[in-house]
Amino acid sequence: MTLLDVSDLEAGYETGQVLFGVDLSIDRDEVVSLLGRNGAGKTTTMRAIVGADEPQIRGGSITFDGHDLQAAQSYEIPKLGLSLVPEGRRCFSELTVEENIRLAANHANDPLDVATVFEQFPELNKMRNRLSKNMSGGEQQMLAIARSLVANPEMILLDEPCEGLAPYIVRRIESIIKEISDDRNVTVLLVEQNVAVAMAVADRHYIIDEGRIVDEVTTERLKTDTELRQEYLGV
Ligand SMILES: Nc1ncnc2c1ncn2[C@@H]1O[C@H](COP(=O)(O)OP(=O)(O)OP(=O)(O)O)[C@@H](O)[C@H]1O
Ligand SMILES: [Mg+2]
Repeated sequence: MTLLDVSDLEAGYETGQVLFGVDLSIDRDEVVSLLGRNGAGKTTTMRAIVGADEPQIRGGSITFDGHDLQAAQSYEIPKLGLSLVPEGRRCFSELTVEENIRLAANHANDPLDVATVFEQFPELNKMRNRLSKNMSGGEQQMLAIARSLVANPEMILLDEPCEGLAPYIVRRIESIIKEISDDRNVTVLLVEQNVAVAMAVADRHYIIDEGRIVDEVTTERLKTDTELRQEYLGV
C-alpha cells in the first residue's frame, strides 16, 4: 500500500525551476533511496515534500497516508507522521542531548518514551548531559535521527545522513536505519551520494538527474550496471 506518493512534482526557487515532473511512490515499510549527483534536486525534493518555505511548488501532487500535503501547513506535516532529518543535521547546539530529544517529544502528538529512544541509541544515553555543540559529526547525526524517531513517525526522510562521516560511523548509521525499519516499522526515504550506503540499506532506488527521475532500479541492478552508475552518479 502506497504511503508516500509524489506525482509530476514541479518546484523551484526564484532563480528558476529545479524539479521537472518528479514521480516517487513508496509503500509502507519500504526503504527506498533517492540518488543523484550534486545539485540534481534531491534536497529540493525532500523539502518540497515536507512543505518547507522553499522551494515553491509549481505543479503536481504530494500525498502522504491519504493526506494532500500541499493542503497541509508545514507544522502539521510532522503530526501526520512524516519527519525530515535535514542535510547538515541541525540540532539545538546549546541544549544537551536529552533536552534536544525531550523538546522533539514535546512537539509530537504521540511520542515514544525518551527511555525507548535511548535504548535504540546507547551511545547517546552515555552522553545524555552533553551539549550538542560538543559532539562529533557522527554523534550529532545520531541525535538528529533520535529527535525524529522520538516523534514516533510513520516515515522518515533522511537527507545525506552519512555525509562527511568516518567509515565506522557510517556503518553504525546504516545499522540504525535498518533497525528503525525492521524493529519500528518506519518507512524510509534516504537521500545519498554514497551509493554503497544506499545499496546496504535500501531495496529500491530512484535516480534523479537535473530535476528528473531518470530511472528506478533494484539494488541488484545498481550493483551490476556500472554504465548507469557512471552516467548518473559518477561512480
Ligand atoms: N535556496 C535555494 N535558492 C536557489 N536555488 C537553490 C536553492 N537551493 C538549491 N538551489 C538550486 O537547486 C538545484 C538543486 O539543488 P539541491 O540542493 O536540491 O541539490 P541536491 O541534489 O540536494 O545536491 P547535493 O547533493 O549537493 O546536496 C541546484 O542547482 C541548486 O543550486
Ligand atoms: Mg542536498
